Amino acid sequence: MRTIRDLEGQLAGKRLLMRVDFNLPLDKATGEISNDLRIRMALPTIRFAREQGARVILMSHLGRPKGKRDEKLSLKKVADRLGELLGAEVAFAPDCIGPQAASAVAGLGDGDVLMLENTRFHAGDEANAPEMSAALAALADLYVNDAFGTAHRAHASTAGVAGCLPSAAGFLIEKEVQYLSRATSNPDHPYVAVMGGAKVSDKIKVIRNLLGKVDCMLIGGAMAYTFLKQQGVGVGNSLVEEDRLDVAAELLAEAGDKILLPLDHVCARQIEPEAESATFDDEVPDGWIGLDIGPRTTALFEEKIRGAALVTWNGPLGYFEIEKFGAGTEAVARAMADCGATTIVGGGETAEAVEELGLQDRISHISTGGGASLEFLAGEELPGIAALQ
Ligand code: 3PG
Repeated sequence: MRTIRDLEGQLAGKRLLMRVDFNLPLDKATGEISNDLRIRMALPTIRFAREQGARVILMSHLGRPKGKRDEKLSLKKVADRLGELLGAEVAFAPDCIGPQAASAVAGLGDGDVLMLENTRFHAGDEANAPEMSAALAALADLYVNDAFGTAHRAHASTAGVAGCLPSAAGFLIEKEVQYLSRATSNPDHPYVAVMGGAKVSDKIKVIRNLLGKVDCMLIGGAMAYTFLKQQGVGVGNSLVEEDRLDVAAELLAEAGDKILLPLDHVCARQIEPEAESATFDDEVPDGWIGLDIGPRTTALFEEKIRGAALVTWNGPLGYFEIEKFGAGTEAVARAMADCGATTIVGGGETAEAVEELGLQDRISHISTGGGASLEFLAGEELPGIAALQ
């Protein structure tokens, strides 16, 4: 895969269109940016392009505006935050294609940075419409994709435009692929995968792909209850995907003794901060909901992580938004930070949990892609990366 490093010495004065994934989490109440990891992770490529004298034109989506303008999803505030983190002025164009974008690009000098408005304000982005790709390509001489988080989408700004301009990957995509490949090809052993989150259905392909590679898979979160119910264990009112019990049975059969499920459960009768909670061994009693792994499970999972050479983790182990159901997730994050192995954390909620605990610098790699890292770990081809090859 060609990377921006291969363009060293060729970028001065060039208009470089760069797709980044600045689809940042926004605070539900205030609309303010609640986590800027994705901007920070894109800085090395932006800095390199500026140092090389490129005229940097950044584009991204934010949210799912479905082809219409939506001021709440404007990238203006993201451009301002980028300016602060970069320590440089970032110009902003109120559209990503057409005359307003073209005149903003025309105003750029070498090393300047421009952020275009949300690409999904045009339906052509998600439709991967050839006219949208052509309109984006008309702004630039070169295309660099550094949007790992959106690499699983075949959209005009991620895949289509790569067919219209000389293209390369940015440093973030390069780093993500290097790390995530360690989890899928020739992994170090012992290799432990930790899986959590609400639904088995989101993770079936990943579990299936990784089962053949790992020594041990630790499963927590609500998804564990679909497996436990399949094994005939009492799950009370815990979340179970009834229509996935068959798949759970297949995966358990395939796994032999590789899959470890919770041995004890922190439970409540309602999912509320004030609800009375209790810990139960083995089974969740009727009327109770399993909301976190209990201390015996935590100790077992910690021991497995401590003995590993490689650990990957995707999905919280409990309902960690409520503090009293967050102990399992915290313990796993701390065990990973301390274990000395290569540690890889999937994006989305899992990455947020690690950042909230301030452990991000003690993890080898935190992916910026939620869906994208899952598809990568499932062994699937990501269209945004395939388009660069
Ligand atoms: C993400 O946050 O997973 C990516 O930015 C992709 O967003 P999407 O699911 O709306 O395509």
